[in-house]
This record gives sequence, structure tokens and C-alpha cells, in this order.
Amino acid sequence: MSSDASGDTTILSWGLVLLLTVDNPHEVVNPLRLGMRVERTPEPCIMVIAGASGDLCYRKLLPALFGLARSRHLPTGFTILGLARTDMSDDAFRQSTKEALEKEGEDVSGPLWESFAKGLFYQPADYSDPGSFTALGKRLVELDAVRGTCGNRMFYLAVPPSAFSTIINGLGKAGLSRDAFDPSAGDADAKALQGWVRIIIEKPFGRSLASARALQRDVGRAFREDQVYRIDHYLGKETVQNVLALRFANLLFEPVWNRRYIDHVQITVAESLGVEKRGAYYEESGALRDMIQNHLMQVLSIVAMEPPASFKANPVRDETVKLVRAIRPFDAESARTSAVRGQYGRGWVHVTAVPGYREETGVAADSPTETFAAVKLTIDNWRWAGVPFYVRSGKRLSHKLSEVAISFRKLPHLLFADGPQSDVEDNALVIRIQPDEGISLRFEAKLPGPHMILRPVRMDMHYGTAFGGPTTDGYGRLILDALLGDGTLFPRYDWVEASWTLFAPVQEAWKNERPQNFANYEAGTWGPAEARQLLEQDGRRWRRF
Ligand code: BG6
Repeated sequence: MSSDASGDTTILSWGLVLLLTVDNPHEVVNPLRLGMRVERTPEPCIMVIAGASGDLCYRKLLPALFGLARSRHLPTGFTILGLARTDMSDDAFRQSTKEALEKEGEDVSGPLWESFAKGLFYQPADYSDPGSFTALGKRLVELDAVRGTCGNRMFYLAVPPSAFSTIINGLGKAGLSRDAFDPSAGDADAKALQGWVRIIIEKPFGRSLASARALQRDVGRAFREDQVYRIDHYLGKETVQNVLALRFANLLFEPVWNRRYIDHVQITVAESLGVEKRGAYYEESGALRDMIQNHLMQVLSIVAMEPPASFKANPVRDETVKLVRAIRPFDAESARTSAVRGQYGRGWVHVTAVPGYREETGVAADSPTETFAAVKLTIDNWRWAGVPFYVRSGKRLSHKLSEVAISFRKLPHLLFADGPQSDVEDNALVIRIQPDEGISLRFEAKLPGPHMILRPVRMDMHYGTAFGGPTTDGYGRLILDALLGDGTLFPRYDWVEASWTLFAPVQEAWKNERPQNFANYEAGTWGPAEARQLLEQDGRRWRRF
């Protein structure tokens, strides 16, 4: 017998693990049969990446775009214009892109690279200088003529958040944010406007309620809401989207997806990495802002929202906003009892000795920044009243793992109570976001033999086995959606504001009360004792791995 990932379920080695696969993974599936969208190719356009000399651009965006080119999702003439302070020629940008793609394991020796490289251009820019935006405007018009991109522009802000407003204001003042659909453009302007203009804004959108509002004021002055795509790469993950499929493309789950059957929900995003080279950024951020307020809250919204009227941007986003607004607000007392924080000290991760957070580059020796946060949330609506959602995320935990675990209620009556087995495990549905993407359902089965002895077993669906091929990190899918003008998987501003509003009292409490016991967990463990107590006070415990 062996132990499964949760550490508390027995898997019988003689094969009670059931494996679910699609009948034939190579079968050509009609997307309409699955209720999916039929594939479309975006219109030709120029993607202007601000922050083109940065890590995000080279490690995530360019590989994602190259991946889209490989899968033939990019239109003919698709053009990338890199923008950054660094002085660099088009050719130098092509060369550094080539090296970055090679580093990511891409094959850049063939015709695919040749044609991708032809669409790469670069322009140095000082974001605080209005002249840079005038020059950008001219360059865009020139590129339109050469590349046939018809005035369609996608701006991508891959810069530190402190530069968001400066760039947005610069684009607005130079008239680069307005498009042919802009109702406020006068007649003369309208003649000059062509095509569509959209903007993708990286996270974090603000670092508090007040700063999110200030940023939104700038965004709103330059862009209409339907032009804005706030990216949260968790929504691009296949497994997160699969929650939608699980809930709304199956009859089985929705009837039990409520307080009558569910005892509680745990959402975990654990990382074994520390802050790496991002100490300075992380000092300003911490786990609550970096992960919980955005990624984990998006996952929670999809798990807990009501069925939308249709799978279109606004109906889906309306439901996620409603959900966050239904979460019981924190007050001074619950900010203390239902939210806990931690910071890692030295320890061992995968047999390697690692330094404590306060020893990392760019981090203050007495830093109060949390590298772990856990909260208990209560949703005050008919579906979820009384069902706690426990949400946690941390760096330098034992290993990398993200999952949603739905624990079902205890049986109302146990028929087999007088045998040797008087207790049974509760049913649990676990959605593994990463790694080993998939879904498993834990239920009780009879151990073969003359007695009615029960053992928990698992039915397992593995993405790799069912569909073959790896899943992506989400960027490619989200960029493609934005190019197609589909905002379904992008948080709308009212969601962002609702989420900041929810966490404002916790931020406030943590700001006013310096943590006295940091570092309070050893690297390579599952976080501080306070996180354990958060569940123990309710008679529950975190899943063990
Ligand atoms: C980013 C955070 O948004 O997400 C990082 O800023 C974190 O701190 C990362 O490491 C985690 O993403 P993933 O896809 O590796 O789970």
C-alpha cells in the first residue's frame, strides 16, 4: 500500500486507482460539440511592448508570441515593436530575442524564426518625455505602411508598476490611445483614426485600494474599459479554465456544489522558490499583494461564482464581481483572527540549504514583509453560507504545488458503523492546477475480503494522459484572447476594486502592527504554526502532501 499526495488516503497497490482518459486523444474533435469557440485568427496588428529589455519580455512574452507563431495563431504581418530606455537597433533586438528563445529551448534555425524575426522592431523611449510618444506615433504609421497592420495596435505594459501611469498618460496625450471606435473623437480626428487600439496591463494593478483607484483614473482618461486587458496569468492556465468546464459542462458536479454538500474549500498556491532576484520588488509587495489579492482570488471566483448567463466576457465577469462582493468584509477583529502571515527563515529545500528571506539580495535585515499569507473567507450568499474558504500561498515551501480541494460533508448516517471500520474519510474533489495537472475524486471502497472494511481510493484524471502534451503557462492563451478582443479571462476594474476593498483592512492591520516573530517558518516546510491554527480553531486541518 502506498500513500497518496494528501498523505492521508490509502491507495491499494493492486489497482483500485482508476484512470480516466478520453476515448481517443488523437480523435479530431469538433469544437462546437464541446461548446468551445471556433478558432479565429486575430487581425494584423502591431504589438508595442513597453519594457522590451526586461526579464518578463524575454522570458515570457516573446516565447509566448513565438509559440503562437508556431501554432499559426498569428496573422500575416503581425509586428512587434519593442520599447525601452536602452539604446538598441532593430537588429540587436532581433539578436537578443533569438538568444532568449534559444534559452527557452525554442528552435530558431528554420523558416519560422526567419519570418518571426522580420516582424521584430525596436525603438528607444524615455517614458517621461512626450517627444518619445510623438516619435512612437510616427514609427507606428511607418510600420503600418510596410507591414499592412491597418492601424491596429496592442500596447503591452511589461514595465514596473511605477511606470504604468507615466506610459498611459504619455499614450493618451499623444492621441495614441484612441481608436476608430472612440465616440469622443471629433470628426477631424475620426478621419485620422484607424483600426483598434487596446492595452494589456501587467499585474499588480495598484498596491492598495487607493493606488488602484488612482491608476484607474489615469487609465480611464486615456482608454475606454473595453480597450483594457488587465492580465492575470492564472486565468490563462488550462487547469483554471478547466474548473469552468468541470462545473458547467457536466451535470454531476453543479447539484452538489453548495453548502448542502460541501464542508469547506482549500486553495493552495505553494512555491519552493524564494524571491530569487526580485527582492526589491517583493519588499514592496509581499504574499498578500503578490498572489492572494489577484491569482488566488481569481481562482476562488471561478470556483465559487454562480453560473453566468453565457460564456461571454461581461456575463462571466459580472458573476466574479458579484462573488467577491459577497465575501464577508474583514473588520479589525477578523483581520487578526482570520488572516495570518509568515516569513521564511533559513532551511532546506530539496536537499539544498537556502538562506532566510532577510538574507536575500535587496531585502532589509529587519524586513516585516510576509512571504506567506493565509486567510479564511466566508461567502455570504445562499450557495455558500457557512462554508469556509481557506486560501494560502507562500514562498520557500516544501514544494511547488497549486490546487483547489473541495471537501465534502460528513455522511448523515454510517451504515457500516459496527464493523471494524467505524470511520470513513470524507469525499474530496481535488483540482490540481500545477504540476501534474488534473482532477482526482476521493471516495470510499470496500476492501476485498469477507468483511465490510472500507478504504479511501481515488479516481484520477491526468491532463498529460488524457490529452497528451504539456500545458502552457497561460501567457500565449491570454495574449491571443486580447488580440481577438475577447476579455472573458481578464479581470474587469470593478473586480480589481472589489478585491482590494476586501483586503484593505488586513493590509491596514499588518501595516500598523509590525510582526514580532519573523522569521516564523523554516524554508522547506509548509508555513508558520499560525496557519495550522487558522484551521485547527475550526476543527479542520490543511491537506498534507
Ligand atoms: C507571479 C508572482 O505573478 O506569479 C510571482 O509575482 C510568482 O512571485 C508567480 O512566483 C507564480 O506563477 P506560477 O505560474 O509559477 O505559479
